[in-house]
Amino acid sequence: MRTAARGWAHVASAGRRPIQFGRETEAGGRVANFVKAARRGEIPDGGGKTVEIGGRQIALFNAGGQLYAIDNTCRHRGGPLGEGDLIGTTVVCPWHGWEYDVTNGQAVDDPGVKVACFAVRVDGDDILIDA
Ligand code: FES
Repeated sequence: MRTAARGWAHVASAGRRPIQFGRETEAGGRVANFVKAARRGEIPDGGGKTVEIGGRQIALFNAGGQLYAIDNTCRHRGGPLGEGDLIGTTVVCPWHGWEYDVTNGQAVDDPGVKVACFAVRVDGDDILIDA
């Protein structure tokens, strides 16, 4: 599903508005799969949002205009990180206060504890996540 011009395609799914995605081969042979997750205006600076891509819950944040995507599930007891407060590039889990650096997914108090991170790309007004 590539177009010659940009490598992006619009696909209509039944009953929903078109979903934009792109596939690219990265170094090492992994195939990236960027999927439209949100529109830029939906996530103000300092805010976050939970999106679902392929059945996976992903927390998407805007820290100073830079967008970051991490797994939504806190490693403590599964709290929803996308609903946590964002302080700089640190999100605070709303359930018991564990803190994660959204730039790398690491827990602030224990860098050995980590949630998955996902690449984010902006295409016009669309925010795309490689998930
Ligand atoms: S579930 Fe996140 S801190 Fe407990």
